[in-house]
Amino acid sequence: MTVTEESVEGAAEKPKDWLGQSIKRKEDDRFLAGRGNYIEDIDLPNMLHMAILRSPYAHARINSIDTSEATALPGVVAVVTGELLAQHNLAWMPTLSGDTQAVLATDKVRMQGQEVACVIAEDRYVAHDALELIDVDYEPLPAVVDPFDALEEGAPLIRDDKEGQTDNRVYHWEAGDAEATEEAFLEAHKVISVDTHYPRSHPSPLECCGCVADLNPASHRATIYMTSQAPHAIRTVFALVTGLPEQNIQIISPDIGGGFGNKVPVYPGYVVATAASLLLGRPVKWIEDRTGNLISTGFARDFHMKGELAVARDGQMLGVRVKMLSDQGYAYADAQPSKFKAGLFHIVTGSYDMPAAHIVCDGAYTNKAPGGVAYRCSFRITEASYLIERLVQNAAMELGMDPAELRRRNFIQPEQFPYTSATGFVYDSGDYEAAMDKALDMAGYGDLRAEQERRRTEGGMLLGIGLASMTEALGAGPSRDYDILGIKMFDSAELRVHPTGKAILKLGVRHQGQGHETTFAQIVAHELGIPPDDILVHEGDTDNTPYGLGTYASRSTPVAGAAAAMVARTLREKAKKIAAHLLEVSEDDLEWEHDRFSVKGAPSQVKTIQEIAFAAYTNHPLGMEAGLEGVHYYDPPNLTFPFATYVVVVEVDAETGEWKPLEVVAIDDCGVRINPMIVEGQIMGGLTEGFAMAAMQEISFDDDGNCIGSNFMDYLIPTAWETPHYDLGETVTPSPHHPLGCKGVGESATVGSPAAFVNAVVDAVAHLGVTNIDMPVTSAKVWEAIQRAQADA
Ligand code: CDP
Repeated sequence: MTVTEESVEGAAEKPKDWLGQSIKRKEDDRFLAGRGNYIEDIDLPNMLHMAILRSPYAHARINSIDTSEATALPGVVAVVTGELLAQHNLAWMPTLSGDTQAVLATDKVRMQGQEVACVIAEDRYVAHDALELIDVDYEPLPAVVDPFDALEEGAPLIRDDKEGQTDNRVYHWEAGDAEATEEAFLEAHKVISVDTHYPRSHPSPLECCGCVADLNPASHRATIYMTSQAPHAIRTVFALVTGLPEQNIQIISPDIGGGFGNKVPVYPGYVVATAASLLLGRPVKWIEDRTGNLISTGFARDFHMKGELAVARDGQMLGVRVKMLSDQGYAYADAQPSKFKAGLFHIVTGSYDMPAAHIVCDGAYTNKAPGGVAYRCSFRITEASYLIERLVQNAAMELGMDPAELRRRNFIQPEQFPYTSATGFVYDSGDYEAAMDKALDMAGYGDLRAEQERRRTEGGMLLGIGLASMTEALGAGPSRDYDILGIKMFDSAELRVHPTGKAILKLGVRHQGQGHETTFAQIVAHELGIPPDDILVHEGDTDNTPYGLGTYASRSTPVAGAAAAMVARTLREKAKKIAAHLLEVSEDDLEWEHDRFSVKGAPSQVKTIQEIAFAAYTNHPLGMEAGLEGVHYYDPPNLTFPFATYVVVVEVDAETGEWKPLEVVAIDDCGVRINPMIVEGQIMGGLTEGFAMAAMQEISFDDDGNCIGSNFMDYLIPTAWETPHYDLGETVTPSPHHPLGCKGVGESATVGSPAAFVNAVVDAVAHLGVTNIDMPVTSAKVWEAIQRAQADA
C-alpha cells in the first residue's frame, strides 16, 4: 500500500474552536469502566511485597530491635531496619524543605506511626503477619504535642540528631514592612483581632500511597512505579540520594487516585521498597493502608495565627499584621519554594488595597508527622485567605457595617492592575466587585438579610450569611523566585504531529483526576485545529515526557498549559512554511483559520493541518527538517491570580449549636475556561473540601502524642448526605500574561470557601456576642461559644 494525501482524514471536517467547550472527559472511558491502571494493578513476575512496622509511641528511644522471629517466618525474604539502611547511608533522607527525615528510625522514634522496620515477603499477608513478630524495645520519652510548649525553655529536644539544633525552633521568617505597619496601626480608628488555629488536616486521597520498585540486576535499570504528583523531580532526588545514575532511573506515575498535595513528597515506603529491590534483585511492591496514610504522610495546615487589622472610621483598611506559629511535626517537610519559609502566606492582604502589612512566622518541631503539604493550595495560601476573610468579617461586625459594603470599599479596583501588594506580589488582573455583586445577586442577599432580622426578632432557627472574597496566587512559578529543592519551577510540553494528522502531547506535569487528557488536548486543538479525540495526552513517565515540576498548587494550566499552547504555535509556524510550499505561494499570502491555511483572496486554495502534517513527512520543502514536532519549556513571567466570591447561608439552632448550610453560591473567575464543565467539577470538589475542613475535619492528638484521627471514623469525609448543593457562576477576567488568558482553578474553592462557612456560622450568632469559632465548627463548639458569650455579657 502507498500512503497518499487522500488517505488522511479530517480535511473535510468543519473547523471548530475547541477552547471553552464542555466536552466529556476522555479519561473517564477507562476510569468509569473500572479500567484505570493504578499501582495496585501492577503485578510483575517474581514480585515481593512489603509491609511497614510503625511506632506506637510519639517519642521514644529505641534500645533494640529483634527481627529474628520475623525473619524465620516462612515466606519472609528480608526484614529491613534503620541500622541496615544506615550501612548504605540511607537511614535519613532530605525533605522538600531541605530538612532531614528518617527513612527507618535508628536512634529514636519522633512521632506515632513512624516507620521502624519493613518486612519483605513472598505475599502481602505474610509480610503483615511478620510485623507482629518484630520485637522493639522502646524507652518512652515525654512527647511534645503543642508547638507553643515546644518553644518553651526546657522543652524536650526533638531533633537531637541534628548538629547545632539546641531547641525546637524550625525557622523564623518575616515579610512586609514592620515600621510602615506600625505607623498604620497608630492611625487606626479600630484594631480588629482574630486569634485562631487552622487545624491540621489531611488530603486523604481515595487511593493511598504505594509503589512497585523494580531494579533489574541485568540491565541496572530502576523502574519505579509510584503514586507521585511530581515524577521528574522525584527521579532527580532519587538519583542524588541513592547514587544511581539518573538515566537508569525511570519513574512512572500510572493512574493516580487523587493526590491533593499528599503525593508530592518522598515517603519512607518508596525509599525502602527501592532499596529492598536493589538488595534482593526482585521487584518489591508496597501498598499503604489508610491508617498509614493518615498517620504518617503529609498533613496540611496546622497554623496558629493571631491576625490584626487596622481600619479607619469609614472602614478603610490601613494595615494588617500577623504572628503565626506553625506546627511542623518532627521534620520541616513543607512542599514549597525554598525562598519562602512559610510558603505564600504573605498573600494575607487578600483582595484588598492594603497599604501596609507585616507578618512574623515561626515554625516549631513537635512529635507529630511531618508534612505541610500544599493540600489543594499554593503553599499556605489557604491559611492566609482564611485569616484575612475572618478579619474582614469581624471588622464589619465591630464597625456595624455590612460585610459586603466593607469589602466593596477596600477591593483593589480593576484599573489598579497590575497591582503590587504590600508584601510584594504583583496581582495580574481582577474585578473583585463584579464577582461579589454577581454572587450577592444570585444568593438574593438583600432578602436574606431581611429574613435574618425577622428570625432574630421572631425566634426560631437563626440564619447566618457568610462571605469570602478570595484572591490567590498560583501557577508557580517564575523560576527567578520559585524552586523546589533548587530545581526551578518551569514546565514543559512536547508535541508530535504524526503523518496522518493525529498527535501525541507529552507533558512534565502529572494529573491525578483533574482531566488533563481532555483539557490539554483542547489547548492543542484550539491552536492547531486537530480534534481533541485525535490527540493523545501522555504524562507521568520520566523516560517519555519532558522534564517538569509536576501537578500541585493548581500550576498545570498556568504553566504546562501555556507550554502546550506555545509548542503548538511553534508547529503552526512550521506548518505555514509547508503550506506555502504546497500551495506555491509566499507565507505572507496565507491566512490561518482554526485548522487550515488558505490563500488570501482565494479561499478555495486550502491546506488543512492534516494535509500539512502528511506533507511534513512525505513532501516537505527541500532543505527543511522533516517532521512536525517540538518541545517548549515555559517559564511564566508571573503567577496568575484567580479570584472568587463565595456566599454561604446557614441555619443555626442556638439551643443545640447544630448548623447546616442552606445555600452555597460560588462565583469564580479563573480567566478563560478551557473546559467549563471540568472547571465546575473542580469548583464543586473544592467547595466540598472547604466545607469538610470548616465543619468536621481535624487530625488531633492526645497529651501523649497519640494521633486521634488516623481512621475515617474519626477523620470525617463528607458524604453526599452532608454535602450541600452548590450554585455556580462565573466572571471572566483573562490573565494578561498567559498565552490563552487562563488562570489556575483547581484549588480556588478549597482556598476560599472555609472562611465563608465559618463566617456564616459566626454571623448567625454574632448578635449573641460570639466573635470567633475555630474550625472544625462542630455543634459542640457553636453551643460552647454561645454559652461563653452569654456568660461574659
Ligand atoms: O494543576 P491542576 O491540574 O491541579 O489545576 P488547574 O491547572 O487549575 O486545572 C484543573 C483542571 O481544570 C484541568 O483539567 C484544567 O485544564 C482545567 N482548567 C480549565 O479548563 N480552565 C482554566 N482556566 C483552568 C483550569
